[in-house]
Amino acid sequence: MTDAIKHVSSALARQTLQDNTLTRPVAGVRPIRLLPWLQVVKIGGRIMDRGAQAILPLVEEIRKLLPEHRLLILTGAGVRARHLYSVGLDLGLPVGSLAPLAASEAGQNGHILASLLAPEGVSYIEHPTIASQLAIHLAAARAVVGSAFPPYHHHEFPGARIPAHRADTGAFLVADALGAAGLTIVEDVDGVFDADPNGAEGAKAKLHKDVGYAELAKQTGTLPIDRALLEVMATARQIERVQVVNGLVPGRLTAALRGEHVGTLVHTGAKPA
Ligand SMILES: Nc1ncnc2c1ncn2[C@@H]1O[C@H](COP(=O)(O)OP(=O)(O)OP(=O)(O)O)[C@@H](O)[C@H]1O
Ligand SMILES: [Mg+2]
Repeated sequence: MTDAIKHVSSALARQTLQDNTLTRPVAGVRPIRLLPWLQVVKIGGRIMDRGAQAILPLVEEIRKLLPEHRLLILTGAGVRARHLYSVGLDLGLPVGSLAPLAASEAGQNGHILASLLAPEGVSYIEHPTIASQLAIHLAAARAVVGSAFPPYHHHEFPGARIPAHRADTGAFLVADALGAAGLTIVEDVDGVFDADPNGAEGAKAKLHKDVGYAELAKQTGTLPIDRALLEVMATARQIERVQVVNGLVPGRLTAALRGEHVGTLVHTGAKPA
């Protein structure tokens, strides 16, 4: 009996996990969708930075969306994180120290949004709750709010001095892991352009209506989404496309959640089931 306990019977027990040909019979199965009815919405920190004028109409729009959709609303960090990066970098803080500080700024924006939606039963929940108790929270309320940053914190990859995995990457990772119905990224511009529409040559910038992650990765210059998001999109399992919409225009988020094409559709590497 003692001997039998020691020899755990498992298809992967005797193999290195690095050999794809050996793991494929077990690991080749498509992951299930945990919350297929969930819509994930990432609200840009720059929307939150604008205060009441931008936040209140969006809160009103989200309030009206609640009977139609169950939402995981994730907030970005905005201007306070940018200030934090400049002070922290000046002091020589490593990226693993900056990441959790920036994540806490994203969380503050989430607390603000959740407070405004509290009359609808919406509350702010922390990462461990998103990881293990999202279903029960969404059984009790139509939406919850969290920080969009991935909780890499002190484990953030040291490749760059500013955390590479920020709010867009975090929102996508969680949406894909949950097998959500969709992810909408809410910006303060109409979508992803071929150059910064607010830059020096902004008047000439053209909006991408439909674009693939690989094409965007090749685009030089700035983007309104994390570059690391494009890397994660390459290996996505569930989310086939993400829509980037302008949250300053009333009705755009509502239209996007209804499946209308009102911003930039970024197509990922996920294959249809
Ligand atoms: N190629 C581009 N297409 C569209 N916007 C761009 C592009 N390049 C730069 N931008 C700028 O990016 C800005 C949005 O910045 P950013 O994405 O950092 O904000 P955010 O998403 O609200 O912030 P956070 O990621 O902290 O939540 C836009 O206002 C726009 O001026
Ligand atoms: Mg952005």
